[in-house]
Amino acid sequence: MTALCLTTNPGLESVVAAEWRERAQAAGCPPATPECRPLGIDGQVAIASEAPTRPLAALAGQMRTIYHVMRHCHQFELPATEPLAAIRQQLLQLTIPEMQAAERFRITTQRSGDHAFSSMDVQREAGAALVERYGKTVDLEHYDTEIRVDAFDRVCLVSVQLTRSPLDRRHPQLYAPRVALKTVVAHAMLRLSGLAAPQGRLLDPCCGSGTLLLEAAQLMPAWRCYGSDRDARCVAGARQNLEAAGVAERCPLQQLDARDLARHFPPQGFEAIVTNPPWGIRLGRKIDLVGFYRKLLTGAWTVLVPGGRLTLLVGRKRAAFNRLLDQLGLFEVRHARAIETNDVHPMLFVLERRDRP
Ligand SMILES: C[S@@+](CC[C@H](N)C(=O)[O-])C[C@H]1O[C@@H](n2cnc3c(N)ncnc32)[C@H](O)[C@@H]1O
Repeated sequence: MTALCLTTNPGLESVVAAEWRERAQAAGCPPATPECRPLGIDGQVAIASEAPTRPLAALAGQMRTIYHVMRHCHQFELPATEPLAAIRQQLLQLTIPEMQAAERFRITTQRSGDHAFSSMDVQREAGAALVERYGKTVDLEHYDTEIRVDAFDRVCLVSVQLTRSPLDRRHPQLYAPRVALKTVVAHAMLRLSGLAAPQGRLLDPCCGSGTLLLEAAQLMPAWRCYGSDRDARCVAGARQNLEAAGVAERCPLQQLDARDLARHFPPQGFEAIVTNPPWGIRLGRKIDLVGFYRKLLTGAWTVLVPGGRLTLLVGRKRAAFNRLLDQLGLFEVRHARAIETNDVHPMLFVLERRDRP
């Protein structure tokens, strides 16, 4: 029996489960029902399967909606008194085959909840216990085995992290602004958009470094993926990234204002607009967000085909955004969910263009 744990952004667990089911079925894996948020842990999906670890982990390693793949080893409740001593005791008794084969290892910890100890305390205690048990060396940089000892409220989970670096680092990032979208979130937005047609035209009018375009160009190789941004540095940076990924020919870019789409693009020129506009949190604090949304929605309606999709993340002014949707009557809400990314909680909307307002 193999127990894997896949990590993603809180709010995207069901998207991971859907991707896993598709890939497992295509690979002829024995059926295994993914469990979203096991033990209530946000951003995790558990897979339990009769299949051996290696092929399952290889399959999970191809996924595009996750960051890490872990083999779950053990879980236990943290006592209210002496929790660090309990971690030490549990690890001294735990058999981890990967530790027997390891030469150098490191411990990493994710922690959420109210604890009297820090992540560093967990790492120190757990590391000492594993050194004592296996006689291997701790090496934070040149390690061959990474053990996760995570504390979520009163539960402690021990796993072997099978992915060395996060799986979302799949595109060249010659230009990587602080506000670049996580590739995993970009991929989830594209999946949730439900763009099943083999060919089409997609636009990201706030493309920044081009994350959505890079992901779309790989996911939908016969689509043309247009990008624009108001900032010339972003357009140049996105171009660098798209060229490095070898998809620039299919991704024309220009510098323009997303509030003015109807002036720059032909009516009904796109099947989809997928975008991550400023949220008014780290970027765009000073802009009139409601005015921006109004213009974006009306312009998007003009340049989308009937039934076309507008998928976007909305940060601040969510209530006003919802009111605008009602007032304008241009789009049907097909899907909405709250997600978490970089400690911010935007709402992911998939809207469908109505035939007429
Ligand atoms: C959150 S960032 C997008 C990040 C991008 N998804 C990435 O991965 O790098 C928002 C982008 O919107 C652009 N922007 C802000 N106001 C705009 C406007 N009125 N028209 C077009 N782009 C705008 C900013 O320059 C910024 O690049």
